[in-house]
Amino acid sequence: MTLKPSTEKATLTFSDGTPAMELPIYKGTLGPDVIDIRQLYGKSGKFTYDPGFLSTASCNSTITYIDGDKGELLYRGYPIEQLATQCDYLETCYLLLYGDLPDVKQKADFVKRVTSHTMVNEQMQFFMRGFRRDAHPMAVLTGLVGALSAFYPDSMNLHDPWQREVSAIRLIAKMPTLVAMAYKYSVGQPYMYPRNELSYAANFMRMMFATPCEDYKVNDVLVRALDRIFILHADHEQNASTSTVRLCASSGTNPFAAIAAGVACLWGPAHGGANEACLNMLYDIQAQGGIEKIGEFIAKVKDKNSNVRLMGFGHRVYKNYDPRAKLMRETCHEVLGELGLHDDPLFKLAMKLEQIALEDDYFVSRKLYPNVDYYSGIVQKAIGIPVSLFTAIFALARTVGWIAQLNEMIADPEYKIGRPRQLFVGAQRRDVKAIATR
Ligand code: SDX
Repeated sequence: MTLKPSTEKATLTFSDGTPAMELPIYKGTLGPDVIDIRQLYGKSGKFTYDPGFLSTASCNSTITYIDGDKGELLYRGYPIEQLATQCDYLETCYLLLYGDLPDVKQKADFVKRVTSHTMVNEQMQFFMRGFRRDAHPMAVLTGLVGALSAFYPDSMNLHDPWQREVSAIRLIAKMPTLVAMAYKYSVGQPYMYPRNELSYAANFMRMMFATPCEDYKVNDVLVRALDRIFILHADHEQNASTSTVRLCASSGTNPFAAIAAGVACLWGPAHGGANEACLNMLYDIQAQGGIEKIGEFIAKVKDKNSNVRLMGFGHRVYKNYDPRAKLMRETCHEVLGELGLHDDPLFKLAMKLEQIALEDDYFVSRKLYPNVDYYSGIVQKAIGIPVSLFTAIFALARTVGWIAQLNEMIADPEYKIGRPRQLFVGAQRRDVKAIATR
């Protein structure tokens, strides 16, 4: 979107004789203003410096808004609390992709299009054979998503809106099938084909848990919970994996390769891998003695030398409770209640750990609250999803957000290939010496 500068300006003065300059300021509809520094290097010969991009807006966007202080998350202006309780995941996909919620006919058409693309090419299964059965599902998914670019020559051109649309439908439709294939391969069971009469989340559950010998009895409470997990993970502004997809796509590569880059980035324990790391953390505390060992664990977290973090806590943007964590905790209650697991020791441990952390100044002073990953592992485990598959589920759900953000960037007339600069602190120019003299 081409921005209109506000009447306010930022004035930059330098103590080294570089001429002062005025920089335009742009105001968004919500959230902080931005200072346009695009002319800074040309006029001053200086770069800005912001490793980790704590104070940098990489783009302008109309998709997702987060207010970290209020703990607010809006998809296209709609609060996550309303979407998670009044809509389903495919409605949310439509919203993120096209800018508004679908009406009855639009929803039916979109669901039909996605449903009719859920199968993958039969050749895809042969990639699986190269992996060990115990390969991490994210290693498999990174490979499979990238491999999709070898099958759809008719939807590879990022600059063709129709091809972007087709690849978006294909990716949203096929991610559940690929994730379920990665799971079936890991347990040595045959793949289950998608069933077009089932809803998106029910189809995924069936591909995961049905076998040729026995079909899967769809449990509506569990399906609804999984659909809500998908909604909560669908998009989240310019997080690490979304920024990766934008930067990757800015070279003009194909949509499948760009989404594969997002999958690879999401895998990290500081990002999407945190849900798996959080559950493993709860297992460790439980193995050491459970609730009475929480104090010892918290002490380790507070000891900088331990390199131990309270996984599922903290966030670059949320300095208040992540609204998704609240919804995830409610979903936990629903699912555990449905399964008669009220006394699930892991859930009790997680709630006690949260309560103790939120009363401890170390966390309060650093504004560390539970994030989306804190409870999502407990819900997924209760549904029967193995820990190693949690991040792959996150990638499945986030695919629509990555695509919406990629589309927005490519459709922006001002977009350029991303190419940051640096502060060079290495060796000055020097000459190579013959090896005998080194
Ligand atoms: C996701 O960006 C997104 O939107 C991501 C995401 C999305 O939907 O895309 O929301 C999904 O990735 C959620 C975050 C999942 N990650 C985790 O749960 C891993 C544990 N959390 C962290 O490692 C950390 O909180 C981050 C990575 C999430 C945020 O790190 P920042 O913003 O770079 O903050 P920081 O590492 O500089 O920490 C600030 C302080 C430090 O202490 P001091 O140096 O000031 O003494 O807080 C401490 C940190 O040591 N700290 C923690 C902590 N998180 C931060 N201490 C203990 N446990 C933690 N979890």
